[in-house]
Amino acid sequence: MIKQPGFMVEPWACRETALDLDRLAQTESVFALANGHLGLRGNLDEGEPFGVPGTYLGGFYEVRPLPYAEAAYGNPEDGQTVVNVTNGKIIRLLLEDEPFDVRYGQLRSHQRVLDLRAGVLSRTVMWLSPTERLVRVTSTRMASFTQRAVAAIMYEVEPLDGAAPVVVQSELVANEPLPPMQQDPRAAAALAAPLRSELFGGDGYRALLVHSTKVSGLLMGAGMDHRIDGPPDTEASTEAFADIARTTITATAAPGKPLRLVKFLAYGWSSQRTVGALRDQVGAAIAGAVHTGWEGLLSDQRAYLDRFWSQADIEIDGDAELQQAVRFALFHTLQAGARGEQRLIPAKGLTGPGYDGHTFWDTEGFVLPLLTYARPHAVADALRWRYLTLDLARERARSLGLQGAAFPWRTIHGEECSGYWPAGTAAFHINAAIAHAVTHYQDVTEDDTFAREAGVELLVETARLWRSLGHHDAVGRFRIDGVTGPDEYSAIADNNVYTNLMAQLNLRAAADAAERHPERAGPLGVDDEETASWRDAAQAMLIPYDETLGVHPQAEAFTEHEAWDFDSTPPENYPLLLHYPYFDLYRKQVVKQADLVLALFMCGDSFSEEDKARDFDYYERLTVRDSSLSACIQAIVAAEVGHVELAYDYFAEAALLDLDDLEHNTRDGVHIASLAGSCIAALAGFGGMRERGGEISFMPRLPMALTRLAFGIRCRGRTLKVEITPPEATYTLIAGDPVELTHHGEQVTVSRGRPVTRPIPPPPTLEAPTQPRGRAPARRRAPAVR
Ligand code: BGC
Repeated sequence: MIKQPGFMVEPWACRETALDLDRLAQTESVFALANGHLGLRGNLDEGEPFGVPGTYLGGFYEVRPLPYAEAAYGNPEDGQTVVNVTNGKIIRLLLEDEPFDVRYGQLRSHQRVLDLRAGVLSRTVMWLSPTERLVRVTSTRMASFTQRAVAAIMYEVEPLDGAAPVVVQSELVANEPLPPMQQDPRAAAALAAPLRSELFGGDGYRALLVHSTKVSGLLMGAGMDHRIDGPPDTEASTEAFADIARTTITATAAPGKPLRLVKFLAYGWSSQRTVGALRDQVGAAIAGAVHTGWEGLLSDQRAYLDRFWSQADIEIDGDAELQQAVRFALFHTLQAGARGEQRLIPAKGLTGPGYDGHTFWDTEGFVLPLLTYARPHAVADALRWRYLTLDLARERARSLGLQGAAFPWRTIHGEECSGYWPAGTAAFHINAAIAHAVTHYQDVTEDDTFAREAGVELLVETARLWRSLGHHDAVGRFRIDGVTGPDEYSAIADNNVYTNLMAQLNLRAAADAAERHPERAGPLGVDDEETASWRDAAQAMLIPYDETLGVHPQAEAFTEHEAWDFDSTPPENYPLLLHYPYFDLYRKQVVKQADLVLALFMCGDSFSEEDKARDFDYYERLTVRDSSLSACIQAIVAAEVGHVELAYDYFAEAALLDLDDLEHNTRDGVHIASLAGSCIAALAGFGGMRERGGEISFMPRLPMALTRLAFGIRCRGRTLKVEITPPEATYTLIAGDPVELTHHGEQVTVSRGRPVTRPIPPPPTLEAPTQPRGRAPARRRAPAVR
């Protein structure tokens, strides 16, 4: 097999032209197809070889015990793990007695293409069998955005050197064996045979398997049907057993007379419906897909994506690889959230089992802010899912002795699943991220129905949490002690600046919402006294500052801690969490991921320009980026303070994380938050875009390599197009009423037919910051197109 470094650089596709089995698991994640409800890893059609087989349904999980060496009050007792459900992707081929398997015979040519506009993964292979028969196999696979239960595969086999008997077995397989569990805590707990058969059946070209999970008691069904087009002697039959259903098609195919089939797949799951109801639901979804037909599904998919790209595309001129990476990032962000419909958006989307399929603050902190501009419905749905779990979050708060709601650090169904509380429960900042996503969504969309039905209550209950978590000290300052901020190399710290500032926004937003919606706040028991107490706490919020160094400590006393000995830390000891005890990381100055620097972005109004520059510089020296959530934020703040070339380096790192497998764990799924974060880095970093209360400002600045950056923004019923070149920025209103915005501090009004162009001032001249030894981002040089 020919090795090649990566994917071809193309504006609208990711193309692989050689198969490297060492990279199979990574490419399965990169080539995964999903619609937010259903996810199919990019496994080879014939099922083997595989890196990690994977088919996932949003929200479908099994419960597993969370054992502890030492019991303690409040530890969650059960974990939740995403289930690899029935695999409907498998289509095996027997060519004249030889199973098609790329490990045998000769792979004469191989190509896989993820087409970002068509929303399909296609594969074309020429294979010489060990008995020296030459065959071409082509397949095209899709997970439908328009019919969320449906996936489909077009599969074609054509012998190229004369007629040959072919047997194609198209299958549904439950309880596939999984590769052994890895030691890396970021991987997933493997569940052996988690599905129990409830019903199976098949006839004609159709089959259905229904299974349940043993502990969580969920039901899922998978069904398939086929349309077959082959030579005159083509025959087909279907059989079904508890864990496998198979349609077998035999034919004598010949050059110019291929065997072609379309496999329609449908999935459904439920915690409430009966086996019979689920069977019928899946059957109906298949019937719908067959009725639409392969061509119909393809054209609906294209139309859906055309609409998405017309609203969400980010155009980058001057770096073709990053243009591709950003579109890849937008595509996967869409795939993660598009049709979740009141389910979670996991950290890996539905592309792999990493982190057990859990959702974290990644979703509200990184994914939803981007989708708010590109796909607001998906944001409302994802936040409504949080709303549906409010009772569990209230219960968790009670068991912690707190008021309001404490959302879980990691979960699938809503219960806290983090067995390590210092970097789990104590990371209360997730509640502020949820509240922030709510206000951002409401500010941008003015969706009052959402505010009344879910938003107000989410804000109120999170504000209550903060009010009970913190206290006014003897001199009246509001302190939030003993919590963990975003940087997981510190824990249980007092007055983490990011947490306190985000809590401040949360408290104020809740008070505003309660005053705007007394009809909703009243029944929740909110009165004037309570809103006043939120405002007081926000007003008195303690934000520590180190007068000696002239910087903000990440949390109280942080800057007094001993600095990590970076010079004695060899490169192979990163990520540090796999080589040093948390005990040591926690008591030294070393930063896993943007924390104070994230505050500079999210709560920028609380810092002066000078603060930002000094703080950024200070934390650059300590930040090792052992989390993929860091580079995108460092890109944004670097651009804002004026380190535009450094911003470009970080932007590239965030955008290429999965295409280049920079963290060596893309095999477990793509990093949705980093991908979404790289798009935000384009908008908020080089575009300098900020949104506050529905008002938008820009501070564009391009790195040297980029000749143009363009994107569209939908805010409050307006569609604005922003086009940035090195010397100037142009703002064009495509739809809606005239809009006021600021460009580098200058107020401008943009109305239809009257684009506004403004010059871009040069960035301040600053000394380049330094990073820990060996941890500077790779210098970005736009490569020649491969
Ligand atoms: C990061 C967290 C993140 C989690 C899931 C961890 O490594 O430190 O901030 O939420 O990964 O992506």
